Amino acid sequence: MTKIVDLYFGAALDESRGKGSLSMNELLDLEPRMLEAEKWLQKGLRDNLEGFGWLGLPFQDPGPILEQAEWLSVFGSIIQIGIGGSALGNRMLNNALLHPYYNELPREQRKGPKFFIADNVDPEGNHAIWDMVDPEDTALVVVSKSGSTAETMANFMFFFGKMSAVMGTQVALERVLVITDPEKGTLRPFSGETGCRSLEIPQGVGGRYSVLSSVGLLSAASMGINVRELLRGAAETSALISGTREMAGNSAWIAAGLYYLHGLRGRSMDVFMPYADGLENFVEWFAQLWAESIGKDGKGFTPVRALGAIDQHSQVQLYTEGPDDKLFTILDIRKRRQDIRIPGTEHGALVGLNYMKDKNMSEMITFEARSTAAALYRFGKPVLWLELPELNAFTLGGLIFFYEYVTALTGYLLSIEPFDQPGVEQGKKYTYGLMGREGFSEQAREAEELFAGILKQKVSL
Ligand code: PA5
Repeated sequence: MTKIVDLYFGAALDESRGKGSLSMNELLDLEPRMLEAEKWLQKGLRDNLEGFGWLGLPFQDPGPILEQAEWLSVFGSIIQIGIGGSALGNRMLNNALLHPYYNELPREQRKGPKFFIADNVDPEGNHAIWDMVDPEDTALVVVSKSGSTAETMANFMFFFGKMSAVMGTQVALERVLVITDPEKGTLRPFSGETGCRSLEIPQGVGGRYSVLSSVGLLSAASMGINVRELLRGAAETSALISGTREMAGNSAWIAAGLYYLHGLRGRSMDVFMPYADGLENFVEWFAQLWAESIGKDGKGFTPVRALGAIDQHSQVQLYTEGPDDKLFTILDIRKRRQDIRIPGTEHGALVGLNYMKDKNMSEMITFEARSTAAALYRFGKPVLWLELPELNAFTLGGLIFFYEYVTALTGYLLSIEPFDQPGVEQGKKYTYGLMGREGFSEQAREAEELFAGILKQKVSL
């Protein structure tokens, strides 16, 4: 029995169905490229190159993070300020491993503070967070790898300003912890100058690959998530992937090969559809990882977020009978943490529903997942079927690392650089310029000129 994840790919490798043909041999032919990719990854890690640091995270000592988590855990609330890779991983961990209504639980039923993420620069969202906390009993965790992202800095100034107004700057500073690059950006000198707490995002670890660093682990540990188990799951996955040097036995190589080969056949959208509420934010996290890592140089595949069974009643019509331009990943969990035995009914009009009587809801959601997979397969659409034995810190750590690996390998196969994000940086520069940051006036002019082009044609209602 697998400990972390099983990948079934029969319905993604069927020559008789759908467009093009995709044979096992074609997949196996990728083996030399995978061996090269593996060498490239290990060399990048050894040489401490920018982007490759995530490969070492499973083997870190989480001691310093756990120490700060202990300090954090006694607050009534945490506001984590960060965006993209500095927020989505935290949401994913909480969604998968904490009670779905964690913040609403009474304190004695929570293992840590309430947790809020201030990522967007929507004034309404930020006011709403401030309304929910007691400033005297709140910590601010400011996360930015670059230490300069405008959204994060604006939100930090808002919340820090509010705290300072209540208790004075010095006391407010005692409630601030920054997580940033060891050297770059404005947050590192800020922590040096003010003496506020800080943790490092290890060099070489990029934003969207940082969830298993202080970025994701600090808040997780402060709320009672077992971060050692997350790391153990990731470390075992790392050993299994790197230790299996043949295509046929390596699930990460196979998954990357299939995403790549289907993509080349015009299936440029990857629909990820877990059948578990606890994985809804995993897909949000995956979408960023996939989109920012492999969408460049005119190449890339579009991540599509879905949730089973809900999206059966929203998206599946398109998925089954629409164009053959997608590869589907459906994820099921073998053993759920809780179950419901569906009661029967004696009401005359409802007795027809008794076919469900005494069936388990965990069984029903699995049948739903299988039904969707079967319907897709029937209509000639390729499906990858993933199964987790259960959802816990160990398997989630493994799944995170698995998809980071698959993403890097897919980028390698596409001959693009999976660890940078020039398109994101361009948007950041335009925002700096438009907000008046020194040295970015040329960017502001360019953005305004481009935007004027967008406004050229108008129609109103
Ligand atoms: O993956 C990335 O590098 C980006 O999406 C970042 O996570 C995001 O832009 C936030 O950047 P930073 O952590 O530097 O503030």
